[in-house]
Amino acid sequence: MTPRTQALDMLRAVARKDEGTRIVHQFATDPGRVQRMGIEAAGLYLDVSKQSWSLEGFEAALDLARTCDIEGRRDALFAGEAVNVTEGRAVLHPALRAADDADFHALGEPVSKEVAETRNQIAAYAQAIGSGAEVGGTRQPFNAIVHIGIGGSDLGPRLLWDALKPLEPTIQLRFVANIDPRDMAEALAGLDPETTLIVVVSKTFTTQETLANAELAKAWLAESLSPRRMVKHLVGVTAAPEKAEAWGCGRTFGFRDWVGGRYSLWSSVSLSVAVALGWDMFQRVLDGARAMDQHFLEASPEVNAPIVLALAQIYNVEGRGRHARTVAPYAHGLRRLPAFLQQLEMESNGKRVKRDGTPVDTATGPIVFGEPGTNGQHAFFQQIHQGPMVVPAEFVVVGHTSEAAVDAREGDAPLWSNALAQAQALIVGKTEAQARAELIAAGAGESEADRLAPHKTFPGDRPSTTILMDSLSPEAVGALLALYEHKTFVEGVIWDINSFDQWGVELGKQLAKAVLTDVQNGEPSEGLDASTAELMKRLMV
Ligand code: F6P
Repeated sequence: MTPRTQALDMLRAVARKDEGTRIVHQFATDPGRVQRMGIEAAGLYLDVSKQSWSLEGFEAALDLARTCDIEGRRDALFAGEAVNVTEGRAVLHPALRAADDADFHALGEPVSKEVAETRNQIAAYAQAIGSGAEVGGTRQPFNAIVHIGIGGSDLGPRLLWDALKPLEPTIQLRFVANIDPRDMAEALAGLDPETTLIVVVSKTFTTQETLANAELAKAWLAESLSPRRMVKHLVGVTAAPEKAEAWGCGRTFGFRDWVGGRYSLWSSVSLSVAVALGWDMFQRVLDGARAMDQHFLEASPEVNAPIVLALAQIYNVEGRGRHARTVAPYAHGLRRLPAFLQQLEMESNGKRVKRDGTPVDTATGPIVFGEPGTNGQHAFFQQIHQGPMVVPAEFVVVGHTSEAAVDAREGDAPLWSNALAQAQALIVGKTEAQARAELIAAGAGESEADRLAPHKTFPGDRPSTTILMDSLSPEAVGALLALYEHKTFVEGVIWDINSFDQWGVELGKQLAKAVLTDVQNGEPSEGLDASTAELMKRLMV
């Protein structure tokens, strides 16, 4: 038995013991719980005191983290070692948000100078478009951008724009990801090709959906612009610039293979957002993320927000068999956070083998789902409160949803008070006796109260984490997303998996090509399973 499996077994044993103690009882017997399990990090506040763990459980989780050498593995990541072992790549998204004079190396090669140069190019381009110095093919300034990309080339920039855009932007920014042509049609509706910039974002520049959408956008431009004029409207963002140029981009912005797709929002992948928000705002996002990097590097494990957030997840999955987590951002601007986290966490940690290729001895990444609060409360929260399966919740709560509206406490209070009430209801619950007494007090007869009380009973003792942001400032958003990135990495270290590859998406891509070939040939190929063949025939008519 290795020290890691011993520490995992210890965590599981303590977690079994914890089953006998309700969360509210943990508060009652440990007056220091909130202080001990409340962590300040880069302007955020993380509260894991409403998790199911006892102090002993919390400490067993910390022991597991220490045994897995989280700090050593973290240092290897920041040092640019080949932590993506299946692709032999460094994983250096922190380099993208580091100071200009930083000194990061990817597999020994210095990268910070190039990062700073690219940043300067983006800043200059954003400035030129904003000022009207950079214009389209017919010399008109740009007033709209269509950002084409999917997965990591879409979710992060889209989230940033939703969170930070002004109510009336001077440059409209629209996103297209789906290969359904309707997505592109909606994005282009009402736009003028002469004043629209198309930004095609793809790390590989081979992604089927993105290339198909880029062709649609090019055809749309071609209806109004000659090929010579059109190039001013086509910008590529990619780690394969030669492909983007060959396709027809008049200008390309690069990034390197050590930037994973789902970790790429800090790079030129967010070019369109930097242009539409203005560089200064985007720089503030980077600053917030850098502050979280600093915290992750410096804070000791028990007060290290990414580590502790990861351990809450590990405790739930490994200790209590809770294989799902719901994320509820209480801010309209963060409505795409669950989608962002689905890619970040499920693409990173939805793995079946360990780094050495042997089968995992743990459950690995859970199902992540969610909706913005308060909308989710009126949909699936019924299940979270009363369903027999316990689903830990994560509340992301924002004091001021708009930086401009500094006096908005009144306006925002109904929003965040709902989050606090939900988390409270989840731990406290309501006994059948309480439910019955309420029914009687409301005028129900004895038998009516007996009949309805079980339906109105809440088991309670359901865990949650709360992350507080003072406001939806660029810094806070940057810190939040970096927190989740590092948390995902820590979990991967404990599960001993490679969080930075995504082979699981490849088979479907291959088969999609084969299916399309069959459709073009007008019949299912020999050997195709009967169900797929039948569905294909029905769709072809
Ligand atoms: O199919 C999954 C994936 O490879 C993601 O990892 C990536 O973010 C997305 O596709 C888009 O890839 P690209 O940026 O190369 O177009």
